[in-house]
Amino acid sequence: MDENLLLKKIESYVKERFENDVTGHDYFHMKRVAKTARQIAEKEGARLFLTEAAGWLHDIGDAKLFADSNQARKRMIDFLKELKVPVEMITEIEIAIEDVSFSKGKVPETLEGRIVQDADRLDAIGALGIARTFAFGGAKGQLIYDEEQGRTSIQHFYDKLLTLKDKMNTESAKLEALERHALMESYLNQFYQEWHTC
Ligand code: ADP
Ligand code: NI
Repeated sequence: MDENLLLKKIESYVKERFENDVTGHDYFHMKRVAKTARQIAEKEGARLFLTEAAGWLHDIGDAKLFADSNQARKRMIDFLKELKVPVEMITEIEIAIEDVSFSKGKVPETLEGRIVQDADRLDAIGALGIARTFAFGGAKGQLIYDEEQGRTSIQHFYDKLLTLKDKMNTESAKLEALERHALMESYLNQFYQEWHTC
């Protein structure tokens, strides 16, 4: 099957699974990661189909989002086999998405995996990253902010978001991350200013 058609089928598969997500991991997150990853891949000379496919599929089987991670991954592989994606390519996709997750603290072994990780991390910062963080916090019943305790969405900026600019793998992502980082810093300044008016 033509690569563009395959990517369309993968997109529909992903849309079905994530369109009702309200934790910041919705279809549009997958789309941004797929498209941003592809743009970075063009600049870095990585394999485009592999990078975009892995971008679309990177959150399939994430333990936060799927009750049975192994089953979700297995279904994804069966789906790719049905589409007649060559087994070597399926293995490359699996390798690319294996270590993307922030919580694993790993750097993916292939260039394509490192690019998907960058695209996922770019979507965690900047204006969209801020929106996703409060969406996640709300969906999980977490407070916006409380000076007395650490389990808040504002705390997540310090635990993760503000550390990401120094963790980008590619030069293209590093540049973009600097701008998004600056926005988060000014957002936080304004947040505290407004918070302390009462
Ligand atoms: P990954 O999916 O790469 O493992 P995370 O699970 O840390 O990364 O988070 C993905 C996104 O979900 C974050 O960028 C953030 O928007 C949101 N998120 C995760 N944990 C929290 C949290 N404790 N509070 C607020 N938002 C969170
Ligand atoms: Ni993601």
